[in-house]
Amino acid sequence: MREGTPMLDHEEILVRRGRRSGLPVVLAVHSTALGPAAGGLRLWHYPGWRDGLTDALRLSAAMTLKFAAAGLAAGGGKTVVALPPGTRLDQPRRRDVLYDVADAVESMAGRYAIGPDVGTSPADMAVIGDVTPHVFCRPRELGGSGDSSPHTAQGTLAALRAVNRHLHGERTLKGRRMALIGLGHVGEHLARLLAAEGAVLTVTDIDDTKKRLAGELGATWRTPEEIISTDADYLIPAALGGLLTPHVVRALRCRAVVGPANNQLDTPEAADLLHQRAITWIPDHIASAGGVINAMTTELHGLTPEESLARVNAIEDTVTELLTTADALGVTPAEAGHELARRRIDAA
Ligand SMILES: NC(=O)c1ccc[n+]([C@@H]2O[C@H](COP(=O)([O-])OP(=O)(O)OC[C@H]3O[C@@H](n4cnc5c(N)ncnc54)[C@H](O)[C@@H]3O)[C@@H](O)[C@H]2O)c1
Repeated sequence: MREGTPMLDHEEILVRRGRRSGLPVVLAVHSTALGPAAGGLRLWHYPGWRDGLTDALRLSAAMTLKFAAAGLAAGGGKTVVALPPGTRLDQPRRRDVLYDVADAVESMAGRYAIGPDVGTSPADMAVIGDVTPHVFCRPRELGGSGDSSPHTAQGTLAALRAVNRHLHGERTLKGRRMALIGLGHVGEHLARLLAAEGAVLTVTDIDDTKKRLAGELGATWRTPEEIISTDADYLIPAALGGLLTPHVVRALRCRAVVGPANNQLDTPEAADLLHQRAITWIPDHIASAGGVINAMTTELHGLTPEESLARVNAIEDTVTELLTTADALGVTPAEAGHELARRRIDAA
């Protein structure tokens, strides 16, 4: 090894040009210490394939922490197909991409199973399932657990309840002011759950057609720029990652940040800055775990839907434990969360 070369943190990384699509497929397995790796397929635009690789590396490492914190017997993995900017996939081309991904998954011989992520859906998992059995979240009619976003939203709700009880002594979110960024699959479900509970919603999306949903739920609409500095009890990132830059953290006017978006911190320092500003941040790998907990426990571990839902709702206990530990040790919930996950991985 060359002096100064950092150690490789990941167990396995596969990078190949898809033989059908010609597009770069990156599959990263971070860890199989707790069990076979799992993680979604991100089909997204990147300036270059190396940017896709960077994303796959950090997203797969985050999956290891997510599974460990959730107490699941699984390790972290992720697949990224880096679409050149402006690429549009018609149906035959999309199928080619999915088969290329399926070949990569199959070549891992069970060390990694794939599910949906940004840019992919249960229907895409059905196509991948033509080639490999190592796939989860296929549509229900094909024996899969289907769309994971309702359970992801349910898990974020559980995390919000824990934080609310810690900060305000009550679980109910009635009357709490929520600033929600991103009304996609998860964001819409969560907005509906929060509205049903009587929370006061302010919402945004880059897609203006989502204004209809805001109107239906009686939510106030703001632009993505405005919502950052909106007065709120909770900011809920439910769009893409990297939201919490130092600049954004300085502009926040909320008491806590709790949301399902993956990789919310732009840099690790943003977590310290949040702490300095006395803004409680619940790590996204914990607040976003509901969907994958449901999919993995029902499809790969054989739990009933009721047992699985109980595991999703147990995110409330995990977050309570993090907040209590963080207070007792004088560390951030993120540090307490890493510690909890590390202990479980090391014990394996
Ligand atoms: N779907 C799941 O079950 C699941 C599970 C775990 C984590 N997540 C994470 O949650 C987030 C949302 O997932 P999803 O499945 O709802 O995705 P989605 O693509 O359905 O929704 C994302 C929404 O965010 C909007 N958006 C994008 N950039 C924005 C910006 N800068 N400002 C405001 N809005 C913006 C999009 O228009 C879209 O409506 C992602 O980070 C995803 O990785 C999702």
